[in-house]
Amino acid sequence: MGKKKWIVGNWKMNNNLSRSAVFFDYIHHMETKEPDIFSSLNIGLCLPNVFLPFASSHIASRFVQFGVQDISAHISGAFTGEVSAAMVAEFGAKITLVGHSERRQYHAESNELVAYKAQKALDCRLTPLVCVGETLEDRQNGITDEVIIRQIKPLFDISITQLSQIIIAYEPVWAIGTGISASAEEAQTVHYTIRKLLEEHNLLLREIPLLYGGSMNARNAVSLLSQADIDGGLIGGASLDPETFFDVIRQAKI
Ligand code: PGA
Repeated sequence: MGKKKWIVGNWKMNNNLSRSAVFFDYIHHMETKEPDIFSSLNIGLCLPNVFLPFASSHIASRFVQFGVQDISAHISGAFTGEVSAAMVAEFGAKITLVGHSERRQYHAESNELVAYKAQKALDCRLTPLVCVGETLEDRQNGITDEVIIRQIKPLFDISITQLSQIIIAYEPVWAIGTGISASAEEAQTVHYTIRKLLEEHNLLLREIPLLYGGSMNARNAVSLLSQADIDGGLIGGASLDPETFFDVIRQAKI
């Protein structure tokens, strides 16, 4: 049997308390009904920070790891409005996104800052899910690989022992929220580039899970997840509704 695939939801700034309660009840129900599906995958859900204590107390999930969508580059101090890795870890987070393209775009996060956040997550025993991806313009200019390599290289300042604990999500910016997923071949090509880059840095990094994100859903999950270097998916829109999310989970059990 191959490695367990990852399915990670990213709610972004969506859903509310009552919808969350319905969501967690449904997941709990499905976990109880179909434990084999859940145990055959690594499942994560990156929530808005304020939902974290609710999620951890509402559903004592055996299978779903809760997480957040960003952390501060600092552990504590005078950083109004920020939330640290240490804080979310205390409230039950196991994973955190860093460097999502919406953070890079709307908050001008640099590749170096993203690597720094990944380091902080690792220091607090959170798994950072580092997002990388090219814009449509980058792709049209034929610089996809160059952009991805530039985004990943600052991570190489992290020790190999720690770095081997990260997850990378390839999310082409043009595929996020557009309904236009990269084709399985397009995604595999970039994943292969990332795998080689990691391997060349250190062979121990070849096991880092590489997730694809960008309009992934129950219809395209199987073809994407059957690619040699695609170890899972980061799901935005299709993770908001519990039944839709579970459809993706069911497809991922391949
Ligand atoms: P999407 O979002 O699945 O809605 O395209 C993915 C993401 O931004 O992580």
